[in-house]
Amino acid sequence: MIGDTTQVIDEAAAYLRAQRTVWPSVAVVLGSAQAAFVSALEERQEISYTDIPDWPVPSVPGHAGKLIVGKAHGRLVTVMSGRVHLYEGWTPQEVVFGVRVLGRLGLKNLILTNAAGGINPAYHRGLLVLLNDHINLQGANPLTGPNDDQLGPRFPDMSHAYSTALRELAKQTAAELGVEVSEGVYAGLLGPSFETPAEIRYLRAIGADLAGMSTVAEAIAARHMGIHVLGISTVTNMASGMQAELSHAEVLEVGRSASGALIRLLGTLIPRIA
Ligand code: HPA
Repeated sequence: MIGDTTQVIDEAAAYLRAQRTVWPSVAVVLGSAQAAFVSALEERQEISYTDIPDWPVPSVPGHAGKLIVGKAHGRLVTVMSGRVHLYEGWTPQEVVFGVRVLGRLGLKNLILTNAAGGINPAYHRGLLVLLNDHINLQGANPLTGPNDDQLGPRFPDMSHAYSTALRELAKQTAAELGVEVSEGVYAGLLGPSFETPAEIRYLRAIGADLAGMSTVAEAIAARHMGIHVLGISTVTNMASGMQAELSHAEVLEVGRSASGALIRLLGTLIPRIA
């Protein structure tokens, strides 16, 4: 990213404001497995990432990613369909660019979904886990470098990285829908190699329940701006050493088959977020 960070963020925000004047106070970051959530939105407006100035475009061919604004049961929501990861070579600031732009457009509540490996032996494949904390092991933080006081403070408090109120609302909604959810701590790793069994034993010892390669940078940037965060992991596999072998194909397959429950949860939860 070239130039002053806030200036670049504000250029993207100005482009988006020209596309529509009213921007939702709730947003959700989704993987491709949850595309059905988007098609169920009413009064949909789609903006391709490639059209937004400086917006990082995911490298996977055919999945350029797009920003969608629509209504879920009458409630306006922004969906970021597709995200970029540190392991693709993007900088931490590029990884959080979208969150910051939405923050400038008035975002108050951000739902970060992800696929993760289950470290907690009580978990099973397909389980949805509400994040109650994270451990940043990515070796990077989106707030390094000069602080932009317009975005947030130099040393933001991370005591409540994931909102208790949003988590309780999600738990209550899941119970009403009969969707099983658990709670846990997400360890954010750089990737893209999966962990070794020894690394998973280490992660368990330091208090992690899940291992994944996204989310922490976005959560940090959101908290920096005072945005409340709900994190939801789909356990797509048990972590390294806990099952015979790991593959991206399994991550995609289980992510897809668990997407129905996640989509139902989101559809009912989002209109309830104040
Ligand atoms: N480790 C890290 N990231 C992941 C995993 C895993 O086992 N599964 C899905 N994303």
